[in-house]
Amino acid sequence: MGAVREFAPAKVNLGLRVTGRRPDGYHTLESLFVPLSLGDEITVTRTEPPGITLAVDGDPLVPDDETNLAWRAARAFLDASGATGGVALRIQKRIPAPGGLGGGSSDAGSVLRALAALEPGRVPPVRLEALALTLGADVPYFLKPVAALVEGIGEQITPVAGVAPLWLSLAHPGKTLSTPAVFAAFDAAAASGSPDSLTASDPRPTIRRLLALRGQDARTGFFDEPRAAGWTQLLGNDLESAAISLCPEVAELREEFEATQALAVGMSGSGPTVYGIYSEEEGARRAAGHIEGRTGFRTWVVRTAP
Ligand code: C5P
Repeated sequence: MGAVREFAPAKVNLGLRVTGRRPDGYHTLESLFVPLSLGDEITVTRTEPPGITLAVDGDPLVPDDETNLAWRAARAFLDASGATGGVALRIQKRIPAPGGLGGGSSDAGSVLRALAALEPGRVPPVRLEALALTLGADVPYFLKPVAALVEGIGEQITPVAGVAPLWLSLAHPGKTLSTPAVFAAFDAAAASGSPDSLTASDPRPTIRRLLALRGQDARTGFFDEPRAAGWTQLLGNDLESAAISLCPEVAELREEFEATQALAVGMSGSGPTVYGIYSEEEGARRAAGHIEGRTGFRTWVVRTAP
């Protein structure tokens, strides 16, 4: 039976606004998602025996059972498609997990992409998108990971042209940070009137508005140099204070990145990965060396994926 290899890119959030809270507790967001050159590699093979097998290489902390989102994605596809037989998955992990870089969601999106290619026509695209959303708010994005404005809880996706190429230096403090805990800390702070709250008197400019203002700097394909302040505004993440309350290393990393030549510094998703943006590879490499020397935390130098 057929096999497909997929690259499962990490994503970075270039800015994140919390725009509301739904009755089911999920938060509506506005964020610019950009795929990175860093990613996991996944092999998806259809097997004659029913059932799912999963092997994970490269990260002993990532589960290789039915609690892995990639495993659940394969199960959901088999159930929805009515296809007989099973699926064998092999994942080479490279994305730090969990880190706010979408590692688990990207693996799940890749499994759905691969199975849709192996079983064409069995699950219509609209059904596949709905199925992805049942697995996690970020999974629909990873069905087609291109630079995009993402709204709703993750299901409203509008591709954005002209973001590549950027160099980023990423740093992870080696601690896990649970997404629900960060949202809970955000809600608790909002209830006591934090400046990041939904009712803040001076909220950050919306990402839609900043994208409309954007110029086309030749080096970054993004903000013109005189508008470099646009970067700092864009990259604001409404979840950062909540993440810092649970993981103070995020603030330490921000401070260290700010001492480099970064165009701007941000936190991805619900953290704890912090990044600096550079127009050249060398700047990103120098920053990574600086951060490792100062903090001992792990760093990655990555490009935005074309
Ligand atoms: O969908 P996912 O499994 O990634 O979300 C994990 C948890 O994070 C949710 O149960 C919810 O508590 C929180 N979350 C949220 N709003 C989002 C995404 C996640 O409140 N847009």
